Amino acid sequence: MQENLFSVAVDKIVANGDFLSSLSIPPYLTTSQGILFNADCLDVLKTIKDESIHCVFADPPFNLNKEYGKGISDDLKENEYLDWTYSWLDECIRVLVPGGSLFVYNLPRWLIHTGYFLMAKLVFRNWIALTMKNTYPRGKTLYPAHYGLLYYTKGEPYIVNKLRVPIPTCRHCGKEIKDYGGHRGKLHKDGLNLTDFWEDTSPVRHRKFKTRVANELKPMIPERAVLMSTNPGDIVLDPFGGGGITYQVAERNDRKWVGAEIGECEPILERMQHFILTGIGELPPLEVTACFKAVRLNNNFQTEQE
Ligand SMILES: C[S@@+](CC[C@H](N)C(=O)[O-])C[C@H]1O[C@@H](n2cnc3c(N)ncnc32)[C@H](O)[C@@H]1O
Repeated sequence: MQENLFSVAVDKIVANGDFLSSLSIPPYLTTSQGILFNADCLDVLKTIKDESIHCVFADPPFNLNKEYGKGISDDLKENEYLDWTYSWLDECIRVLVPGGSLFVYNLPRWLIHTGYFLMAKLVFRNWIALTMKNTYPRGKTLYPAHYGLLYYTKGEPYIVNKLRVPIPTCRHCGKEIKDYGGHRGKLHKDGLNLTDFWEDTSPVRHRKFKTRVANELKPMIPERAVLMSTNPGDIVLDPFGGGGITYQVAERNDRKWVGAEIGECEPILERMQHFILTGIGELPPLEVTACFKAVRLNNNFQTEQE
């Protein structure tokens, strides 16, 4: 019964349309704001036109030998992992609009290489440190206590929205933790400026808020990235969909989106069905379909949409 209900829903999650059916990779899901492919992100990226995406948020596998599903290796040799990383990064850079933003979430161990690679191609803006909890030291290193989120732009950013965070309070007594050196009265009513150290972003632990087993980010992480680097209506790409947090965040903030996930996409569908409620199975907007390169129509290649 459950399976039937699910398969009925699955049948209706992609809109009909000549353009969609002509794409070289058939979409897994379309909504009134986005499109998701159940495919290797490198293949998907290759179908996207140059300079068509406003923001890329990427949370790739960390090469920690995690179980992501059949056919996905998360235990590559260091040089293989880095070569793979550089190949999808190059594609992400190509598809970004001038002034667009790239965010890469990973362990410092990999980000140091990533940052060096990106330095020659994009403009560095921030290395954001995010608190990491419940870890253990590996080998002869210090206890790891942070993840990193690299923030680069393709030239000067076309927008940097200033975000604010609530003034931190003690979770026991509710009082503010700092006294701001006597300048408390001068603080902005909406809170403090967001810094490059995020202490409030530990991974989601409660099953109620998760739709998959593997590590899932707190929505706050891609949400801040999207809000600070895009305007409503802009297009966000997440090449490593996971549980679909970035797509949910794009939907609820009136951004359009393009996604890829090589493993199971059901958790993303569940998330969409649970959180966005309307627009599933509808045609994505023209701005999204216009991102895609040559399509096959009636066995002929077209270079642009009609
Ligand atoms: C760290 S998880 C992303 C989690 C996601 N940010 C979230 O919060 O749910 C990485 C995801 O990338 C997927 N993946 C791995 N290799 C991929 C590839 N070549 N193309 C697309 N997805 C890939 C994995 O299946 C996994 O779901």
